[in-house]
Amino acid sequence: MKVTVVGAGAVGASCAEYIAIKNFASEVVLVDIKENFAEGKAMDLMQTSSLNGFDTKIVGSTNDYSKTSGSDIAVITSGIPRKPGMTREELIGINAGIVKTVSENLIKYSPDVILIIVSNPMDTMTYLTHKVTGLPKNRIIGMGGALDSARFKYRLAEAMDCPISDVDGIVIGGHSDKGMLPLTRLATRNSVRASEFVSEERLNQVLEDTKVGGATLTGMLGTSAWYAPGAAVSALVHSISCDQNKMFPCSVMLDGEYGLTDLCIGVPVILGRNGVKKIVELDLNDLETQKLNESAEGVKKTNGLLV
Ligand code: 2OP
Repeated sequence: MKVTVVGAGAVGASCAEYIAIKNFASEVVLVDIKENFAEGKAMDLMQTSSLNGFDTKIVGSTNDYSKTSGSDIAVITSGIPRKPGMTREELIGINAGIVKTVSENLIKYSPDVILIIVSNPMDTMTYLTHKVTGLPKNRIIGMGGALDSARFKYRLAEAMDCPISDVDGIVIGGHSDKGMLPLTRLATRNSVRASEFVSEERLNQVLEDTKVGGATLTGMLGTSAWYAPGAAVSALVHSISCDQNKMFPCSVMLDGEYGLTDLCIGVPVILGRNGVKKIVELDLNDLETQKLNESAEGVKKTNGLLV
């Protein structure tokens, strides 16, 4: 299994590190435009291999896509991250051009690749990748929901004062502060509804804290987060590589599912060796459906900014 990660910044390097540590890929190619940067990160990571016990070979490349040739999966993290106070949507101007060029380069050398999009605004960048590459729907996956759900579980565990392994929860909708839809109604602790353990008011606080999960960290760190985004990507890559058939909310092109068409937005999908194996349609109540529709309108509005 050969995996390319484009962008050797904090998110890209974390992706490469977590993928390597899980030891299922034969090779990870890290690409960056900054001279020698990806090579340096690759060498540093390789020097952890005897300590962390992995055999995955990590290779760096300064914008030479021939090294990515024959990749099974490629992750696009390139572009600029947000600064405190910025929304993900504000990054569209710079990131759209970068994501377009990167996806074209990847397809040129790996026509059968499955693409995972991380660059923001993620739902719109995933949509753009469809328009640029024309790849089938199962092979373009936006990473956002898996990260948002991990943040949701963190907040749920905090509220219920319990171990995270007891908690389950899912976030659908757009990967944006306003559009994210943490499904508090379906959140559980060992199959028991979270609402049995905490008040409605506290659950609403969990919901609000989850929605601004990325913005909170951007304010604290001065740039956007990287550990949880990297771990979320590595979980998606793992499920695809090892045909695990795990379910994650991901941004995928909808064609009538949830009554929505011609946009990419977060919904639960099953991920296996060919990418998206199935889109899972949840039985949402009226309020959740209304919120998902509002979120879809927001994503479509951002898509409209693409030139
Ligand atoms: C985040 O929410 C990078 O969009 C990513 O942290």
